[in-house]
Amino acid sequence: CGIIGYVGSTGTDVTSILLEGLSRLEYRGYDSAGIAVLTTTGVMALHRRAGKISNLANAVSNGSRPDAGTVGIGHTRWATHGRPNDINAHPHPDCTGTLTVVHNGIIENYVELRQELKAAGHIFKSETDSEVLAHLIEQTYFGEAAHDLTAAVQLAIQRVKGSYSIAVISQEHPDVLVGARCAGPLIVGLGEHEQYLASDIPAILKHTRNIIILEEGDIVTLRPEGISITDLQGHPLDRQPHLIEWDAEAAEKGGYPHFVIKEINEQPDALRRALLGRIHNGQLNLSEMEHMQKAGLLENIQRIIVVACGTSFHAGLIAKYVIERWARIPVETITAAEFRYCDPIVGPETLCIAVTQSGETADTLVGIRQAREHGAPVIAVTNVVSSAITRLADAVLYLQAGPEIGVVATKTFVSSVSALYLLGLYLGQQRGHLTAEQISTYTQALDMLPEQIQRILDQASSANDSIEPLAKKMSQLSSIMFIGRGVGYPTALEGALKLKEISYIHAEGFPAGELKHGSIALLDNLTPLVAIATQSHVYEKVVSNMQEVRARDAHIIAVATEGDEGIKEHADDIMYVPATLEELSPLLASVPLQLFAYHVAVARGCNVDQPRNLAKSVTVE
Ligand code: G6P
Repeated sequence: CGIIGYVGSTGTDVTSILLEGLSRLEYRGYDSAGIAVLTTTGVMALHRRAGKISNLANAVSNGSRPDAGTVGIGHTRWATHGRPNDINAHPHPDCTGTLTVVHNGIIENYVELRQELKAAGHIFKSETDSEVLAHLIEQTYFGEAAHDLTAAVQLAIQRVKGSYSIAVISQEHPDVLVGARCAGPLIVGLGEHEQYLASDIPAILKHTRNIIILEEGDIVTLRPEGISITDLQGHPLDRQPHLIEWDAEAAEKGGYPHFVIKEINEQPDALRRALLGRIHNGQLNLSEMEHMQKAGLLENIQRIIVVACGTSFHAGLIAKYVIERWARIPVETITAAEFRYCDPIVGPETLCIAVTQSGETADTLVGIRQAREHGAPVIAVTNVVSSAITRLADAVLYLQAGPEIGVVATKTFVSSVSALYLLGLYLGQQRGHLTAEQISTYTQALDMLPEQIQRILDQASSANDSIEPLAKKMSQLSSIMFIGRGVGYPTALEGALKLKEISYIHAEGFPAGELKHGSIALLDNLTPLVAIATQSHVYEKVVSNMQEVRARDAHIIAVATEGDEGIKEHADDIMYVPATLEELSPLLASVPLQLFAYHVAVARGCNVDQPRNLAKSVTVE
């Protein structure tokens, strides 16, 4: 979910500020949205709508638009409890509608709290866990807190279990906005005679670049003239602002029809930035690892666990192959939601690598927190500076990919994989398994990748592109399979995930050799197979698996290395990628698969930037 809040002087068009901010947060969830504005005449104007922000904006402009006010909050929702409808949309009012709350996260003890509040006479209107907060704060506000809004939030939050960030306003306080952060992202934007609160920086970048990133347990009170931050007990805290240097334009589409295709095309640059400064004269320069190295945290590592979700999990699977090969350390890659609850065997000898582009994925955070409690050293690979994962890590490798607005991960995948390559090479060097000469071979090949990806993209946008026509041809099918071996296997998984995420066509990835043990039964002349058949030590094996499938009449699409004429014997369509070292091949092979998924989705008329049921950053377990 996404949160925005504003407090300023009388007469500001708060509604437009909130709606504009929410539109920049749509990637956080978009099944419903709402705003509450305390108007200049002192009325709490509440608008909520199921569906996209545009539905809300239409509802606001069709109705009696609250012209101006002093304070307001807004929210875009990704449902956890309760269906996405108008009533379950935020902000949630208290019983009288004078106090409103927006919430991002989950209240774990909401059932008990709701029973208690109902017994005390509170009337609930929605099915959400969030509404409990409005009533709980109302209760403390009129009780113990004696009409002090900040104190009411402090007292209420002490009763709540779960992970959340919230923003609260009250009709009795036209100049106060209160926010609290417990495990969800929340930032403060400092302005002149006006202040902002948001879950993400792009929401307020248009208004201020002076940002404070709140920490877990912080409660912030914003007034037009300034802000104050305390802990849950009310002790004052000092948090320094950062100057954000991002270009607001970087978060715009910049001429492309969709963010996804813009971000696919940004991959050469994203990759350059991921490598920037980390390779010097053919050797590694991972200064981020110095602290861990000096503290001796890497010396006794016996094994590595990579913890991640979704696309980041696939990046982690590639890391398993390369780290084992380069550093000879056993690596297990596990989806974060399973890791947390499988009673994992971790300790100081287990290096945990968290891969999360957003840095806020709840499943990954809870898993890593638990690993830390068992003494495991942690390295975070993330795109978002100061995100929650960075506070749980001994070292952070930032992707430096720039904001990614498309819900499906494209450029952050490429950047995550490259950061993991650098880490793998670093560990291989530390362990004495890679010579300076070998490092130099790999770093030179890495340095060539941005240019090689550019070639794939240039070809794809040229008149003789074959990916888009192929995608159009395949767009009406209901199922497509993907296979690969070695690093080609996670590449196949990622190709399948991209396709199902944005085109809603059923897709599955398999290890090529495993297909014949059951799943081959799915294949027929209406179920094509995409085979990752780039040059590798298992190339011949993949070709054999393709032949097995061809014998079942399935249409075969191969991703193959330029110059491989022989593959034409075994495939009906071919997507060629430039030659590179086998370990690095996923970075090239993924690009035509992303383009394929994109064009299939466009041909089917899907909303490629915001696929149904998905959110960019899932901050609930
Ligand atoms: C969500 C997104 C996926 C993403 C996953 C992990 O489910 O829809 O695209 O791969 O979260 O996100 P992370 O930020 O941890 O990499």
